[in-house]
Order: sequence, then C-alpha cells, then structure tokens
Amino acid sequence: MNTVKAIYPGSFDPVTNGHLDLIARGSRIFDHLVVAILRNSSKNPLFTVDERVEMLTDGVASLNNVSVATFDGLLVDFAREQQAQAVLRGIRAISDYEYELQMALMNRRLSPELETIFLMPDGKYSFVSSRLVKEVFERGPRPEIRHRSLEAAQVLS
Ligand code: PNS
Repeated sequence: MNTVKAIYPGSFDPVTNGHLDLIARGSRIFDHLVVAILRNSSKNPLFTVDERVEMLTDGVASLNNVSVATFDGLLVDFAREQQAQAVLRGIRAISDYEYELQMALMNRRLSPELETIFLMPDGKYSFVSSRLVKEVFERGPRPEIRHRSLEAAQVLS
C-alpha cells in the first residue's frame, strides 16, 4: 500500500494555535507529517531555531505520526530528501491566497511531482498570526505571558 508523507514548512516564530490545529488536521490525512522549520527565515527571529523545535515538539507530542525537523535552502530539495509527496500549507483568509498560490506554483515549477495541499484551520484562528504574537512578545510580556514559551504563545493565539 502506498503511504503519503507530507511536509508542513514554515517559520513558526512562534508556533500558534492555528499551526497546531492545522498539524492535527494534517496528521489525520497523511501517513506521516514532518513539520519543517526554516532556518534563517528572518534576520530578526524572536525565538531561536532550537526554541522553536522545542515548542513544536511539545505541541505535537500527542500525535505519533508527526515529527519536527529543520531545513535550509529550498523546500523542494528538503521534500525530495525526505521522500515526501506533498507540502501542506494553511489558508486562513483570502489575504493568504495570493502569496500561497505564488509559492505553490513556484514549487511546482521546481518540482512538478510535489503537490501542495491547502487546509483551513478552525475559523476561530482566522485572524491569528505569528507576526502579531511576535509583536506582543517583543513589546514586553504581560503577567500571563511572562515566559516566552509555547503556553504563552497559546494564550495569545
Ligand atoms: O511561515 P512562513 O514564513 O510563511 O513560511 C514560508 C516558507 C518557510 C514555507 C517559505 O519561505 C519557504 O519554503 N522557504 C524556503 C525557500 C524556498 O523554497 N523558497 C521557494 C518557495 S517559493
């Protein structure tokens, strides 16, 4: 029987409840899902790659077909290395669509056999983004988010 392995790539700086919701959905569809954190995605990361790996590893602990990895360079090369057939991405609202379509079509040009599959997170996460959570962390934590942690990111997202 064929098994399908997918890569869910992103910056995850930090991981949000929307990401975790999408990972749970992906884990029910794919045989194996690799959550892949891009190294060097921003010159000004809030969380180190190691912190992001730790947060995501905690966040996916209950899903036994999900693993966490990091990658550099092109996503299509990482997908090939992993022998993955699909890329998973989330679309929250129409505003995500254009950027996602551009990436999916570029990835298709680079690797025609790799399919991008979009899923929608629960509507309650439609307006949550890493960028906003990051902004709040950067401007000084409130008491309930004193520690820069998965729990704190979850309170905000
Ligand atoms: O969570 P993000 O920051 O929107 O994720 C963007 C990401 C990491 C998926 C994208 O920037 C990416 O795949 N970067 C790796 C470099 C690459 O392959 N670029 C070509 C894709 S168009």
